[in-house]
Amino acid sequence: MPGGNDKRVQTITSSNVEDAYARWAPIYDNVFALIMRPGRQAAADAVNRLNGRVLDVGIGTGLELPMFSDHVKISGIDLSAPMLDIARRRVADLGLRNVEELRVMDAMNLEYADHTFDAAVTPYVITTVPDPARTLDEMVRVVRPGGEIIIVNHIGAESGPVCWIEAAMSNRAAKLGWRPQFPWSIIGDWIAARPQVELLERRTLPPLGLFTLVRLRRK
Ligand SMILES: C[S@@+](CC[C@H](N)C(=O)[O-])C[C@H]1O[C@@H](n2cnc3c(N)ncnc32)[C@H](O)[C@@H]1O
Repeated sequence: MPGGNDKRVQTITSSNVEDAYARWAPIYDNVFALIMRPGRQAAADAVNRLNGRVLDVGIGTGLELPMFSDHVKISGIDLSAPMLDIARRRVADLGLRNVEELRVMDAMNLEYADHTFDAAVTPYVITTVPDPARTLDEMVRVVRPGGEIIIVNHIGAESGPVCWIEAAMSNRAAKLGWRPQFPWSIIGDWIAARPQVELLERRTLPPLGLFTLVRLRRK
């Protein structure tokens, strides 16, 4: 089962995440706002079809926050306090009224009761968390039966030059704060082992199909 000791998952610890995103926070928006915008928009579009309370797991600096419609109420969590500080500033600057709370919290130990949310969304986070499987399990736990889990993530290339570049970068995962190599099987095997979860949609996104949108339903 995919997780912290899975050989396909390059090791990243919680302190790697905290150190990496304390470094990224001041420049994150300049580096990642544009290139990862289509995936954030696709995740937000999927959320905006729904209603109720939505948990954004690994909300970072909150670049996706202005993309959510007013009718969905957003709670955001992140392990990195410096990233969340920027998200808080964004909420204040843009006067976003549909953001219920932003909290420092570990995605692998969500401090919410079972079935608290109508949906959970996680753009560009599953490759960064120390234990992807445990994070996905936590998201399923806090979503009500019938609710959706929406993931946007980099899925590594299986062959060709991009695959070689990702392999060459893979020993930098802890420093970067994400895993350059991330096979679909980590998510696919997790879904296959969870009868309570149904795959609704899987499609690649720009730029260059580097990212994938996955929609799941908690049965
Ligand atoms: C690449 S950023 C994505 C941020 C935002 N969703 C976006 O689209 O720009 C990944 C985020 O996941 C957060 N993260 C990584 N591991 C985490 C964990 N265990 N719990 C909560 N957040 C975590 C990082 O701190 C970082 O802010």
